[in-house]
Amino acid sequence: MIPLVKVGMPPKSLLMPALEDVLYSGMLAEGESVYSFERTFAKQMRLPNALGMSSGTGALHVALLMAGVNTGDEVISTSMTAEPTNIAILHTGARPVFADVDSLSGNLDPASVESLIGPRTRAILVVHYAGFPARLAELRGIADRHGIALIEDAAHALGASYKDQGIGTVGDFSIFSLQAIKHMTTVDGGILSMRDSSRLDEARRLRWFGLSKGVARTEVDITLPGYKYNMNNVAAVIGLTQLTGIGERISRHIANGRYFDEHIAKIPGLAVTRFESDATPSYWLYTVLSDNSGDVEARLAAVGVASSKLHRPNHLHSVFAQDRRALPGLDTYYRRLTHIPCGWWVTDEDRARIVEALQRG
Ligand SMILES: Cc1ncc(COP(=O)(O)O)c(C=O)c1O
Repeated sequence: MIPLVKVGMPPKSLLMPALEDVLYSGMLAEGESVYSFERTFAKQMRLPNALGMSSGTGALHVALLMAGVNTGDEVISTSMTAEPTNIAILHTGARPVFADVDSLSGNLDPASVESLIGPRTRAILVVHYAGFPARLAELRGIADRHGIALIEDAAHALGASYKDQGIGTVGDFSIFSLQAIKHMTTVDGGILSMRDSSRLDEARRLRWFGLSKGVARTEVDITLPGYKYNMNNVAAVIGLTQLTGIGERISRHIANGRYFDEHIAKIPGLAVTRFESDATPSYWLYTVLSDNSGDVEARLAAVGVASSKLHRPNHLHSVFAQDRRALPGLDTYYRRLTHIPCGWWVTDEDRARIVEALQRG
């Protein structure tokens, strides 16, 4: 069976010596390997800066806090995402306000976002679902008009770009996830990036108890309680070796995605994700839209290809019961979607087999 998602690891010959070095270096906690990983990640992903975090969720929590989100506030968000996006909002004491999504992309509909802004709104949290950039120019405009922050959850979108810029550079803050099944993994980990580099030290304190690195432990003063969200040197070394091959891996996701865009869009009864002409998705997952997603799954299973829906719309969880509202665009998108494999492990033959199976429908 061709899996829908797969863990990608660098060649053993590259990873194991580097891992052995760090494991026996006597320096496992946050240190030079983390700082080196941060610099390399930022450069390769065309970000102004990058902070290594223990997870994407931790990165998101810090981003929300730095955007000023607090108890009693509201954050306009999407329900069409992995749960951590919205759980992180609850961690701040705020509530998500679920805007609707475009039924052809699964991404936030800017008109719905703007209609929900009220006196308690502190931020817009946008997800680039499945690796397809959301309508960032419009969302940036809305955030600026209302004087609120824009936060990009780019957990699915490593390597995507928007108007020739790296994804994650339009929001005031952006986060990436490096957990097991993303384009790239450090086993667990995340990245926080921000437009205003003068706030990096504030973020560094929030990721490490409120303490400042480099100040003697007997003299440092905590003014705000921070968290244990820092990345460690072992994860960072895995990240550094991953970065040596990530360009190729992402290119393969993109090549497969473009092949599907070209061939699946022509199949009667099927539709593909809509995105803006100046966006380049990084196709973490590919999404096929149809009136019978169960039938698409069955046809692909018959030729040895795994496909399915992946995330439960978050508002369906009891913890978000009080935040439920009518989301007709999401209902349509969710009913019609089937995710199919699109990553670096999908060969030319595999993708042709997928298209042929769908054409026979
Ligand atoms: C859209 C989205 N946001 C946030 C996260 C959280 O990332 P992590 O698992 O690294 O905490 C994930 C990954 O699970 C995700 O898919």
